[in-house]
Amino acid sequence: MIRVAAVGTSMITGRFAAAVAQCSGITLQSVHSRDPQRAADAAVRLGAVRPSSSWAELLASDDVDAVYLASPNALHAGQALDVLAAGKHVLLEKPACTTPEQFVQVVSAARAGGLVALEAIRSLYDPGYDLIHRLLDDLGPLRRASFRFHQRSARYDKVLAGEAVNVFDPSMGGGALFDLGVYCVHAMVDLLGAPESVQGFAVPVAGGADGAGAGLARYPGLVADLSYSKITVGDSTSSISGEAATLLIDHLGDPRQLRVERVDGSREEFTVDKRGEDPLANMLDCVEHFVAAVEGQVSITADQERSILAARVIAELRSGSSGRPLASAPSVSTNGPERDA
Ligand SMILES: NC(=O)c1ccc[n+]([C@@H]2O[C@H](COP(=O)([O-])OP(=O)(O)OC[C@H]3O[C@@H](n4cnc5c(N)ncnc54)[C@H](OP(=O)(O)O)[C@@H]3O)[C@@H](O)[C@H]2O)c1
Repeated sequence: MIRVAAVGTSMITGRFAAAVAQCSGITLQSVHSRDPQRAADAAVRLGAVRPSSSWAELLASDDVDAVYLASPNALHAGQALDVLAAGKHVLLEKPACTTPEQFVQVVSAARAGGLVALEAIRSLYDPGYDLIHRLLDDLGPLRRASFRFHQRSARYDKVLAGEAVNVFDPSMGGGALFDLGVYCVHAMVDLLGAPESVQGFAVPVAGGADGAGAGLARYPGLVADLSYSKITVGDSTSSISGEAATLLIDHLGDPRQLRVERVDGSREEFTVDKRGEDPLANMLDCVEHFVAAVEGQVSITADQERSILAARVIAELRSGSSGRPLASAPSVSTNGPERDA
């Protein structure tokens, strides 16, 4: 049984706790907050065995095997390295880190310690992505793709009122690209692989974070665009077009309805077989993958490489470059055992 501690006490930790409760092989041992009372309240609310409010105590504890990081993005890398140095597995909320170099360091430390470090990009463990992969084969040579995620955040009202909030704070790794664009980037690199070059454009909000943005990615014979926003509402249908047909995906974070529209005018609808109506139910798919990885039943080398590639694309989108070739990948140290190989 994997005894996991969750770091953070916001909504997403509650969703993680609910997934853990439904998943065999893992149990919620602790909830960690900087504030002892918040930790105690959250431990009761989420059904954890005990609260934690001392980072050093949590790292030293021998009743915790793994840590789920649902802290602000800028803290993930340092916390993950602490967790791995303490001999514990780590599941990092998306985006795993704010630079590719940081995540490479995390993966290197995990491999050296024979531990698992996995990015919790829940959408990619959704059964909808298996179906999307299968349907790609029917589209013919791929020419255009559009990956979109637009969801106005209630926290933008606080920004407009002059308050600082983590999700719009650049020093905390906030902004639309890290928060929502990450789903577009992961979908793109998972489905299409590494682009030759990318170029990004951002719409800054007060405080300097990107409230919305767009990107272009060039592949041989194919162009993909990415569109993400936390400050506007809009259509989040994504599409992938080949010369034979276009695949429409209703939502990258929770794909349910897929449609293939063929050049001969025919259409076919596909409903993804899901666990229920809950749009975050695929957190359970992700937790199950983490458990299987810790138990040594699945390799996560490809997941880690995809996360590194996604981080490289995000770094390039953020750089303001004019579409230069994608920088080469920082290399993962191969010292030490590779538990997940
Ligand atoms: N997968 C999904 O669907 C999904 C959805 C939402 C968020 N997320 C991810 O979850 C992570 C957390 O996002 P969020 O919006 O929940 O963040 P948040 O509310 O700003 O912070 C999360 C937790 O981190 C702690 N925290 C806040 N500020 C901190 C600081 N300055 N230093 C140390 N700890 C701090 C807080 O816990 P205490 O105050 O109790 O210590 C808080 O509950 C992000 O990586 C985000 O991308 C994922």
